[in-house]
Amino acid sequence: MSKYADEINRRRTFAIISHPDAGKTTLTEKFLLYGGAINLAGSVKGKATARHAVSDWMEIEKERGISVTSSVLQFEYDNYCINILDTPGHQDFSEDTYRTLMAADSAVMVIDASKGVEAQTRKLFKVCVMRHIPIFTFINKMDRDANDTFELLDEIEKELGIATCPVNWPIGCGKAFKGVYERKSGRVLTFSDTQKGTKEGDTTVIDATDEEALLSAIGEDAMHTLRDEIELLDGASAEFDLELVQKGELTPVFFGSALTNFGVEVFLQHFLQMTQTPLPRMSDQGMIDPIEQEFSAFVFKIQANMNKAHRDRVAFMRICSGKFDASMDVKHVQGTKVMRLSQPQQIMADSRKILDEAYAGDIIGVFDPGIFSIGDTICMPKANFKYEGIPTFAPEHFARVRQLDTMKRKQFVKGINQIAQEGAIQIFQEAGTGMEEIIVGVVGVLQFDVLKYRLENEYNVEIKLENLPYEHIRWIENKDEVDLNRIIGTSDMKKVKDLKGNPLLLFVNSWSIGMVEDRNEGLKLTEFSKN
Ligand code: G4P
Repeated sequence: MSKYADEINRRRTFAIISHPDAGKTTLTEKFLLYGGAINLAGSVKGKATARHAVSDWMEIEKERGISVTSSVLQFEYDNYCINILDTPGHQDFSEDTYRTLMAADSAVMVIDASKGVEAQTRKLFKVCVMRHIPIFTFINKMDRDANDTFELLDEIEKELGIATCPVNWPIGCGKAFKGVYERKSGRVLTFSDTQKGTKEGDTTVIDATDEEALLSAIGEDAMHTLRDEIELLDGASAEFDLELVQKGELTPVFFGSALTNFGVEVFLQHFLQMTQTPLPRMSDQGMIDPIEQEFSAFVFKIQANMNKAHRDRVAFMRICSGKFDASMDVKHVQGTKVMRLSQPQQIMADSRKILDEAYAGDIIGVFDPGIFSIGDTICMPKANFKYEGIPTFAPEHFARVRQLDTMKRKQFVKGINQIAQEGAIQIFQEAGTGMEEIIVGVVGVLQFDVLKYRLENEYNVEIKLENLPYEHIRWIENKDEVDLNRIIGTSDMKKVKDLKGNPLLLFVNSWSIGMVEDRNEGLKLTEFSKN
């Protein structure tokens, strides 16, 4: 297998996480620009799509036949082969966003310097922490007024529970933004506005010990402030430790301005050096090494085709080991079937390309006639192992589903189960009732519209959704030790079961969760389900 080592070792597969509007799209565009994948910034699709209203979104899905969300961008930079996994925000936010993180080896967290840590960053960050993957922070929009730098770092440490280590340090912000100081090299890179990043900026590099040069570049006030801040920082911040970074316990922090191209390439270069090659993954037969082992992959996302004429689905898989060759036979472990993957393709932001080969670290989409499920393993015919499953993430919006025409019971049950199997929604039953009372849980509210639309269009079933006030769900980690009937709840709590019969609790308020834990000794509640 080692003949693929070079190809695999040059791969870097990461997700970019941020709260909407922090600058994820802009940063991605700039990465592509440096990689030569696009000529002019502004051609990454997706952002504009995310802004469309629901009905438009449906149309777009139909036209393209496949979702434009959660797509993958592959490009080359400095002999690295980079796979960026997009994590959609806004309304498109769904469980897929979380699952995408399961396919990444590291994450870039983009933070708006004037906003600090925001809600969506927090959620996605939690999933990264659960996986112990390295997280790199890019504090963006330094060309605008920003929060105090020390406060920003403090907020990341407190809110997200990760130590920070600034790799560079901003000199001023907004109109007074002068550039950044690189701590390791002791150099200052000066900022000049690059007309919204349509051309390369004229960055001057100054040795910070050359007082005269520094003075003329940033002025006296900024120079004194910089010296004071660096002294304070050197005394207070965590030391850089690559091992801690790779364990996901320390985040290197970079400052810049994606819009004006400032600090982006430096960030990319450092990031590529610090981040890892495709990581080994745990299976029921132990760790699978990406280089030593032959081809294997797992399914992390299934995208149904919204086009009625083509009821196919696309299963996205992350290659975990070896080389994929489109002409070879592979085994779908869960289906115990040897097959050739149909129409393997690389799905880009706005195009698809049929693939002949791909390597560990890459993401491929294959035509799915309805046989794959989230978390399934694909490997060579002779191998026989399963990758660890993908956890089920907590939905945050709940609704009761009522079927309008009870004569169509069968279609309804089939449709709702199929859509749940794809992982677009989760369905629950109230404890003690049958399929007549179904509660649907989703991570992003748009999934409710998707459910309604698909049941009507694909299964000819009309439904009515009645929103429920619950916002939090908890699985019972030690369900075998707990009697569901004996759990002492709060007035806002509801007991339900998932499709596999696992007991769950729904809550309106987050504080009730702690209260229920206090009232029921030994009860262990969890936000992710590994069942
Ligand atoms: P997102 O993908 O995280 O949602 O954010 P996106 O990159 O679309 O950026 C959100 C807005 O912030 C955009 O402005 C973008 O131009 C701006 N922006 C991104 N990076 C920077 C930066 O470094 N400095 C400044 N000043 N602005 C930045 P918009 O007006 O919403 O969109 P547009 O009409 O300019 O595209």
